This record gives sequence, structure tokens and C-alpha cells, in this order.
Amino acid sequence: MEEKTCPSAEKFFKKEFKKHTGIKDVRFTLAVGSGKGGVGKTTISAILALALKKAGYLVGIFDLDFYGPNINLVLGIEKKKPFIEFGKIKPVSSYNIKIISLALMISEKEPIFMRGLMASKLLQELIQKVEWGPLDFLILDLPPGTGDIFLTMLDLFNPEGFILVTTPHKLAISDAKRTLAILKENNIPVLGVVKNMSDFFEDETSFQEFLSKQKLSLLFEIPVLKELSKTENLIEVFNSSKKQKILEHIAERVLEKVFRIH
Ligand SMILES: Nc1ncnc2c1ncn2[C@@H]1O[C@H](COP(=O)(O)OP(=O)(O)OP(=O)(O)O)[C@@H](O)[C@H]1O
Ligand SMILES: [Mg+2]
Repeated sequence: MEEKTCPSAEKFFKKEFKKHTGIKDVRFTLAVGSGKGGVGKTTISAILALALKKAGYLVGIFDLDFYGPNINLVLGIEKKKPFIEFGKIKPVSSYNIKIISLALMISEKEPIFMRGLMASKLLQELIQKVEWGPLDFLILDLPPGTGDIFLTMLDLFNPEGFILVTTPHKLAISDAKRTLAILKENNIPVLGVVKNMSDFFEDETSFQEFLSKQKLSLLFEIPVLKELSKTENLIEVFNSSKKQKILEHIAERVLEKVFRIH
């Protein structure tokens, strides 16, 4: 099936943009994080991947939530496993999106015990061993908090852009501010803020204040998606033409920011 591209994608796709990221064959690494747990990092990572794929780009998602890996569920992948050949790991491909997640390697029944140092080492090893193949965008679905995995990610990936996900609620915003302070110290460009579950919380003033004080722009917003109470699978949720339009808008906004910065 032929992919439809959005106008910005078409414009930029023709341009031969230089390779930025340190990862072989990957042009741009975009980290999706928040500080706070449960605000929608994984949901937004998957939506971003679907949007950029729809715009004609080659996309991968690296699930860095080693303790609660679940990107597979959001993208409706059940039984596939990464292929291992000559010590190299080939990501699973689903809906033309390449995915690496511990959920695809370790059964849900098995507990994941890992101290910080082990998690950092595992991340290092995966970076060396995973062969993504050519990708325009590698999306990093970050775990909650700014602990070992987050810090190792900053050391090893040097992402070209950070996408901050938050709900417009003071508790989530408070955690987001601390995350931003770390990003600032590490000179990581923040592409903007995704306001998730935008219509559920009523404290719009706190959110607007946050944006203006931090000099950040709203990248896009996602309301409460009622369908997610029935299914966890975003492919099903975004199956309507109305929702496909939302994906086009998201891709335009993100591409605009990425290419303005780089
Ligand atoms: N816009 C939305 N509308 C309705 N439900 C949502 C929305 N965004 C996320 N959710 C739901 O909220 C829950 C948490 O979302 P998600 O797992 O994406 O958050 P997270 O930040 O990745 O969590 P964690 O910190 O555990 O990694 C999930 O059940 C998800 O389906
Ligand atoms: Mg998550």
C-alpha cells in the first residue's frame, strides 16, 4: 500500500539531511520522556511513530522501560521475537515500524530483577548489538523518572530532540520541571511539550504558566481517547480517517521543529 506523505515531509524528504545521531544508519533520535510515570510516554511514542511513518519516514522505537516494557501491546504485537544472528539483534517489524523491547524477549510471567548498574550495562549492550538498519527516526520510549536508564540514555544517545510529555496537572508539571533542568544541563534540545489527556484536567493556568516560564512551545495535544478504555491497541484506535488526520498534523508539527533545530 502506498504511504501518503504530508507536505512538510515531502519538502524535507527530498532534502538530503545529514546524519546526526551516533547510532549506525539512524538519522535522528527523539527521546520521549516526562519525569512522571503514567502520563502517556509510551502512548505518545507510538502515536509519534505512526505519524512519522504515515508521513513517509522510516521509524523505529526503542523501549527503554526495562522494568515495565509494554510498547508491544500498544502496537498490537504479540508473538514476534527479535531475530538473533551472528551475535546481532534484528528488531521486530510491525506495521513497518521497527521495535526493540524487553517485552519481546522476556515472557510477561517472568519477573525483571535488575539493579541500576545492570540496566545501564544492558542498554550499552543493546546499543552495540541491535542492527536497526536505515532509519530516519529512532524514538526512545523512556521509563518514568530520571534514574539510571535516563542518565545512561543521555550519555550514550545524545538525542537530537527531547519531547516532553505531561498532563496539564501540577503534579506532572512539577516532575517535568526537574526533568527539564537535567536536559538543560546536558544541552539537550527540547522540541516541545505534548499535552496529554488535555481535556481531562482543568488547571489550564498552571500549564500555560509552565510553558511560558520554561520558554517552551506546545508541540501538540491529545485529548482523553475513550477508545483506550476498551483496547490498549493504538492501531485500532487510529483506524478512522478523522484520527488519521490527527497523525498528519502531528507529523507536520514534529518535522517542523526537528528541521528548524537541525
Ligand atoms: N490520551 C489518552 N487517553 C486515554 N488514555 C490514555 C491516554 N494516554 C495514555 N492513556 C492511558 O494511560 C495509561 C498510561 O499510559 P502510558 O503507558 O502511555 O504512560 P507512560 O507514561 O508510558 O507510563 P509509564 O511511566 O509506566 O511508562 C495507559 O493505560 C494508556 O492507555
Ligand atoms: Mg511507558
